[in-house]
This record gives sequence, C-alpha cells and structure tokens, in this order.
Amino acid sequence: MHTDQQPVTARRAIEVEGLHKSFGALEVLKGIDFSVERGEVVCVIGPSGSGKSTLLRCVNLLEEPTAGRVTVAGTEVTDPDVDIDRVRRRIGMVFQSFNLFPHLTALENLTIAQRRVLRRDRAAAEQVARANLERVGLSDKESAYPAQLSGGQQQRVAIARALSMEPELMLFDEPTSALDPELVGDVLAVMRGLAQEGMTMLVVTHEMSFAREVADRVVFMDGGIIVEEGVPERVIADPQHERTRTFLARVLDPAAAGIIEVAEGEPPPGEQQP
Ligand SMILES: Nc1ncnc2c1ncn2[C@@H]1O[C@H](COP(=O)(O)OP(=O)(O)OP(=O)(O)O)[C@@H](O)[C@H]1O
Ligand SMILES: [Mg+2]
Repeated sequence: MHTDQQPVTARRAIEVEGLHKSFGALEVLKGIDFSVERGEVVCVIGPSGSGKSTLLRCVNLLEEPTAGRVTVAGTEVTDPDVDIDRVRRRIGMVFQSFNLFPHLTALENLTIAQRRVLRRDRAAAEQVARANLERVGLSDKESAYPAQLSGGQQQRVAIARALSMEPELMLFDEPTSALDPELVGDVLAVMRGLAQEGMTMLVVTHEMSFAREVADRVVFMDGGIIVEEGVPERVIADPQHERTRTFLARVLDPAAAGIIEVAEGEPPPGEQQP
C-alpha cells in the first residue's frame, strides 16, 4: 500500500499520457491520462466494454496504442526503439483465465519462465518457486497438475508464477471473475497480502469490497475515458458523476450481491463506512 514514507521524488511506476486506442473505426480509448505511484494500489472499475482491459494491455504493449505515451518504471514503452521484452519482464500480469501449462506441475509452471527468460538454474528457480507457492498458500500442491487444482488454486499458481519473475509491478485483469464465489476470497486474500507487502498493483475488478478496502485510488472508466478517480471512500461511497452512480447502483444492487465477495467482518458493499 502507498505510504507517506516514500520520497515524493520516487519514480512513477506507470505514467499514461494522452492514450488513444482504436480498433479499425472503433475508438476504444479516447484520451487517457493517469499514473500509478510506486507502492500504490489502483483499482479500475467500469462497465463492460469501457476499455479497462485495453488500457491494461496498452501498459505492457499487448496492444499498441494508436496515440499517446506510456511509461513504465521510467522506461517509455511507446518509444519505437524500446526493448519491450525487457520491460515486460518487469511487469507481472494476471488474467481472468489462468493460462497455466496443463502438462506441467505447479512447480514447473513457476520455474519454466525463470529458467528460459531469466536463465536461472533449476535449483535457484525451484527455490524461488517454492517460496512463492508458500506465499500463495499452496506449498502442498507443487506436484499437482492444473487439472487437479480448483480454479482459485490455479489462479493463485498464476499469481505465484508472475511473482517468481520478481516483477516491479503487477497488472490484474479481473482475476476472480471466472471463479466460483466460494473460491474468490482466497485469491483476494493473496492480493491483499501483496498490497500490504508494498507491491505496486493496477487491478481491474468488479469486487467493490476489495477495491474499497485495498485500493489507494479507484479509477472509474466509461466509454473510453476516465470519468472520475480518487480515494475509494469518495469514488465508491460518494461518486460525483451520474455515470459512476448508475454503474455503482447496478453492481452494488442487492440482486447482484451473490457475485460480490464480502470479507468476513466487513460491512456489506453499499453500506456506509462508519
Ligand atoms: N482486439 C480487438 N479488436 C477489436 N475490438 C476490440 C479488441 N479488443 C477489444 N475490443 C473492443 O474494445 C472495446 C473495449 O474492450 P475492453 O475489453 O477493453 O473492455 P472492458 O472494459 O475490459 O470490458 P469487460 O468488463 O467486459 O472486460 C469493446 O467494444 C471491445 O469489443
Ligand atoms: Mg475486460
């Protein structure tokens, strides 16, 4: 989480300036400006199709921006001469689908990129892998194949795999939305732990209780622009814009409560914090 102890001159983790992205005639991002400080947790919320995934994918150049500038940890990734593989190595990415290799065990899923990309030897890679499996609470599953794991466990392996590359920041795109409701909590707990350790995180999520509890800042997107952003108490509990209110009313509606995880001891979403 963001703390005041960081020097104000700390390099920004992510800086996005005037970002536009079109697919053919469809303009999906219509001028996005925002930044993420090191150690900060920023949650991006917004309706389906508003451009949240596209924004995340522009940060690590899985999509090439049509215009604008994206800088990650001091390196401009939109510079045509950038070594993008080098930059991507510093960014951990976790998607809705876990994309584990089905023919490799959990441990092997964590060591393969370390060995191939970072050129670590087997022993070193396994040591890092075991530490990260422990971090996500899956030390007992290192020999399991993905098919032998629940969706939540597979997603925690995917997070541990990203962490094994020792990234400077982590991007999450709806990491819990493919999971059965009872499996969501364990994944969010791992993400909460990462935030507490000071990991810089940009998280697209529909989990409003998570955003409220863990985010330093919430960004609400609609129609390819940032409509508003600010601390969660303001954006989620006291939105200034009608579009934000409409969106939140829909996701926080009691009828949708089944898809919203409420941590034990937390007030239900939509209820005012004391
Ligand atoms: N590769 C692509 N080619 C063409 N159109 C695309 C492509 N990727 C995304 N789009 C379009 O861009 C728009 C924004 O998509 P995006 O996936 O960024 O939305 P989102 O906010 O992540 O939505 P969701 O909450 O459903 O994941 C959508 O209209 C989508 O159809
Ligand atoms: Mg998306």
